[in-house]
Amino acid sequence: MKTQKIYDNGYQWIVLGRDPDKPEKIIDTNQYIIKDGNRTMMLDPGGIEIFSSVLAATLSETSVNNITDLFASHQDPDIISSLGLWNEILPDLTLHAPAIWEGFLRHFSGGDVNYNAIQDKGGSIKLDSVELQFIPAHYLHASANFHVYDPKAKILMSGDVGAALEGPGAPMFVDDFNSHKEKMHMFHKRWMPSNEAKMDWIRRVRDMDIDMMAPQHGRIFKGDDVKRFLDWFEALDVGVAIHGG
Ligand SMILES: [Fe+2]
Ligand SMILES: [Fe+2]
Repeated sequence: MKTQKIYDNGYQWIVLGRDPDKPEKIIDTNQYIIKDGNRTMMLDPGGIEIFSSVLAATLSETSVNNITDLFASHQDPDIISSLGLWNEILPDLTLHAPAIWEGFLRHFSGGDVNYNAIQDKGGSIKLDSVELQFIPAHYLHASANFHVYDPKAKILMSGDVGAALEGPGAPMFVDDFNSHKEKMHMFHKRWMPSNEAKMDWIRRVRDMDIDMMAPQHGRIFKGDDVKRFLDWFEALDVGVAIHGG
């Protein structure tokens, strides 16, 4: 699994992904690490199937005892079915995840994980030097769902929003927004259920200062491509299965 630093100024953001050993039939995922002093937080650390690759890649960046926090944007298996394995090697770590998914996510953990239940209005967490915000993104696509915003690095980790279905080994950054649109089209139309939730999120995100939007699948948006994404998403009608697809 490849690792790539996307921010490095006193602390680091690192993306892990594009695993050539990934089983073919599982969806490709991006995992993110924020390494800040002797605290390391993993954002959407991934499924049980890729745990050993993610762990090996993580240990090339930080020591095992520095992995102190996990974040799960929502309850999907590609986000966090690895929870029980992380908890087994690091019983003191804390999972930060939506409050209403606690009873569900504990099915992945063996039941005894330290669980910081993020309430619907969101919240924040201070690592060593950086303070991160949990931004509500409910119904995009899960009924309780959060993104992570770092106002210093100006990075928004956007979970499944901005996801694209890519072939193996795709570049890590969007290089041509126009050709990228078709890789996002079906995913957003079908997995995002609510135009009202979409518009509420877009309104709030337009007010944020964002250099990079980093989704859990596909490629990272930089600079003007963030605004291009917001415009594209705003114009897209979602929740299409209600009308038969
Ligand atoms: Fe999901
Ligand atoms: Fe996902």
